[in-house]
Amino acid sequence: MTSEICLVTGVAGFVGSQLAERLIRDGHVVIGIDCFADYYPRHVKEHNLSTLREQERFCFLEADLLDLDLEALLRGALPMDRGSRSGDDRQRAKLPGPVDYVFHLAAQAGVRESWGRNFDIYVRNNVLTTQRLLEAAKGLSLKKLVYASSSSIYGDAEAFPTPEAVAPRPHSPYGVTKLAAEHLCLLYWRNYRVPAVGLRYFTVYGPRQRPDMGFHRFIRAMLEGQEIAIYGDGEQTRDFTFVSDAVDGTVRAAFAEVAGEAFNIGGGSRVSVNQVIQLLETITGKKARVRYAPPSLGDVRHTSADIRRAASALGYAPRTSLADGLRAEAVWLSSMLLEPVAG
Ligand code: UGA
Repeated sequence: MTSEICLVTGVAGFVGSQLAERLIRDGHVVIGIDCFADYYPRHVKEHNLSTLREQERFCFLEADLLDLDLEALLRGALPMDRGSRSGDDRQRAKLPGPVDYVFHLAAQAGVRESWGRNFDIYVRNNVLTTQRLLEAAKGLSLKKLVYASSSSIYGDAEAFPTPEAVAPRPHSPYGVTKLAAEHLCLLYWRNYRVPAVGLRYFTVYGPRQRPDMGFHRFIRAMLEGQEIAIYGDGEQTRDFTFVSDAVDGTVRAAFAEVAGEAFNIGGGSRVSVNQVIQLLETITGKKARVRYAPPSLGDVRHTSADIRRAASALGYAPRTSLADGLRAEAVWLSSMLLEPVAG
């Protein structure tokens, strides 16, 4: 395979860091950007980056996308005076050419936090940054811009499993911003031929899962003997997607001959939160202490991905069962809890 130059935004995050590792393993050069947004602690993200920082073909820029000259960056000019965190990084900051692929994963995450004054941050970090990237990309010869969209654009969907063609009706302000940015991607394809695709990830889980997300909280609470708060009756279901499957779908979307459309990236494991807790009891050998809390505003009742479009156009096929994926997350989290850096 030829070595391509890939830009990964949100590279210190849960999915972004594992995507960058996969791209490096596949022989590509990766420029990773992250601004360490304070949604969760920096040291967790630094930990996500630790393997990448040792790679010759990885270059890290600590920067806010809105502060960068994105067009210059896409043309291959690295901002040498900023972002890089060491002389060592600077040594490596040689871009052999313009960026070929953009993976835009940087975002303000969190469905339930997106109400009220927080909405400003969601608009800035999800909508504005995407528009700036697309503006910078128009007129250049990018091979693909892959945008991390979300199952939350569907809201309470009309059909399960949900095909991409149903009318999106987000149920949270977060979902509204993810949908707006996805529309921008499609708009820039239609008007400027920026070859963008949107990937609607369905609740991704596995090692490095964000500390605010369900499985991370559940496993941590069980390992520490703490109480788990379940929002609502626990009968809400999600189509949970293991992180390496989401990464694989992302790489496939970049290298397949597709543009100007969106794809569901689901895991094929639609289960209720109550069922997950039972499975975790078996995996950890510990009894969960559950408290049922009021339902959380913005949470949808069910998600279920119809992945036929991704299967036929991208050859996407999720491979990790929920039991195997949960076990992998539990192993990772228990090792993190033994390290002082885990936080
Ligand atoms: C997740 C991500 O957080 C979003 O960034 C992403 O866009 C979205 O998936 C998506 O697929 O579109 P969510 O489905 O809410 O959002 O994922 P979790 O935070 O893992 O929650 C899963 C379920 O567990 C939800 O029903 C939630 O209500 C429940 N939960 C979560 C609890 O009952 N208690 C908790 O403490 C946390």
